[in-house]
Amino acid sequence: MEFSIKIGHAAKELSDCVIVGIYESHKLSDAAQLIDHASNGLIAKVIKRGDMDGKLDATLMLHHVTGVACERVLLVGLGKEEDFAEKQYCKAVRASVKALDKSGASNVTSFLAELPVRELAARRKVAYLTEATLDALYKFDAIKRKEVKPVSKKGIANFIISVALPNEVQQAEAGMLEGQALATGVGLAKDLGNLPPNVCTPTYLAAQALALGETYHFNVEVLERDELKKLGMGSFLGVSQGSEEPPKFIIMQHLKGKKDQKPVVLVGKGITFDTGGISLKPGSEMDEMKYDMCGAASVLGTFKAIAAMGLALNVIGVIPTCENMPDGRAVRPGDVLTSMSGLTIEVLNTDAEGRLILCDALTYVERFEPSAVVDIATLTGACVIALGHHASGLFSNNDALASELLQAGETALDRAWHMPMWDDYQPLLDSNFADMANIGGRAAGSITAACFLSRFAKKYDWAHLDIAGTAWKSGKEKGGTGRPVPLLTEFLVARANKLN
Ligand code: BES
Ligand code: MN
Ligand code: ZN
Repeated sequence: MEFSIKIGHAAKELSDCVIVGIYESHKLSDAAQLIDHASNGLIAKVIKRGDMDGKLDATLMLHHVTGVACERVLLVGLGKEEDFAEKQYCKAVRASVKALDKSGASNVTSFLAELPVRELAARRKVAYLTEATLDALYKFDAIKRKEVKPVSKKGIANFIISVALPNEVQQAEAGMLEGQALATGVGLAKDLGNLPPNVCTPTYLAAQALALGETYHFNVEVLERDELKKLGMGSFLGVSQGSEEPPKFIIMQHLKGKKDQKPVVLVGKGITFDTGGISLKPGSEMDEMKYDMCGAASVLGTFKAIAAMGLALNVIGVIPTCENMPDGRAVRPGDVLTSMSGLTIEVLNTDAEGRLILCDALTYVERFEPSAVVDIATLTGACVIALGHHASGLFSNNDALASELLQAGETALDRAWHMPMWDDYQPLLDSNFADMANIGGRAAGSITAACFLSRFAKKYDWAHLDIAGTAWKSGKEKGGTGRPVPLLTEFLVARANKLN
């Protein structure tokens, strides 16, 4: 699908479909007004008949509108004008794309980027529109048998975004490229999450990272079990020892900033399947534990997005990846593991494995002298209980870093919520037999998990995103969301803008 920018005229546009907006007050957008005039008040009539109420999300496809050059006119409800902000704008864009996708239109022109959205410049509006469009069109059909599509349905081939003013075209084109770059990263994160766990193994993730580095010319290294042993990663290796799949430790280096600029390091949890291990999980919905590598997927997705943008920043991505399986050789409750930091850990529950693989990665990244480290993990069911599926949990040892991430989440419409990590919670991890236990009991489960990680992140500014509730959807709409790639990408873009 090709995107392009132009200054269009809604009534004169020669394409298969033009998309125009209408508010709930029945006020027409500028583009809708042009069509209404050209068609002798058809839109006003349609509204009067009660076929289009302008509610946010509502759509109505009109065919062969007299006086209008285009074959179809898609009306999209925008909701209340006074409430029309980024979120509502993206919602309207998604609704329009879903309606389009059901039609036979192949060349389309959207006038939605001409709508005023608070004080947003054309660049931002077009970036949002492009990303939301591609996100709404995402389908995961890699694994299904290929169907023969009916010839009448071509799918969208050309997507033209109209802007109002000539001096907006260049900025809009920049926004379009940003939106495409982000969408390709989000798409990769969704794909990797959605792939079945017998395909998306640690070896597969490592191959994907190597392929990405090949395509975008950045360095990728994969450490094998022997090297991990030499590094002393007893905690990570302890988790992996019950699986037939070999563990991998992936290091990606996107070094496009100044030579002496300290890197931002992203660390992603890459459990390609979490059975719970010997502390076996109950059977219902266990298939969803294929998504336990979504932290890793978000790091890969973010790397794809920033590489596609050519972002001028030093960023290092680290992914410890393995399976968590029950087996004759698997780690048992009561076992004590020695982490790379030297700290010993009593494994009281083998299902609290994410923190066990992350802690060694957090020690490993000290060598990069990072300006900040952000780990991303589907870490605790408790985080889902606390925040549901709307916000990721954010924990940090540095309030300025936390603010940056919160702001990035707001801007990217991929929100996080700042959770407490006071020292008061630390004693919950006390162990009679090792330096710490790997669980802190049922109370404040997402906080004690973060407290555990904080013990390995003392040498740098660090934040932890618990994405257990946001990385995928369950039920009828089961599928990866690609979150928090938008948040992470925005965080890195904002850092690069500040430095350059
Ligand atoms: N991957 C899970 C967390 C999870 C569970 C994410 C359900 C999304 C949905 C993690 O490895 C885990 O099992 N955590 C345990 C920790 C507990 C044993 C302290 C949990 O949350 O139950
Ligand atoms: Mn687990
Ligand atoms: Zn897990």
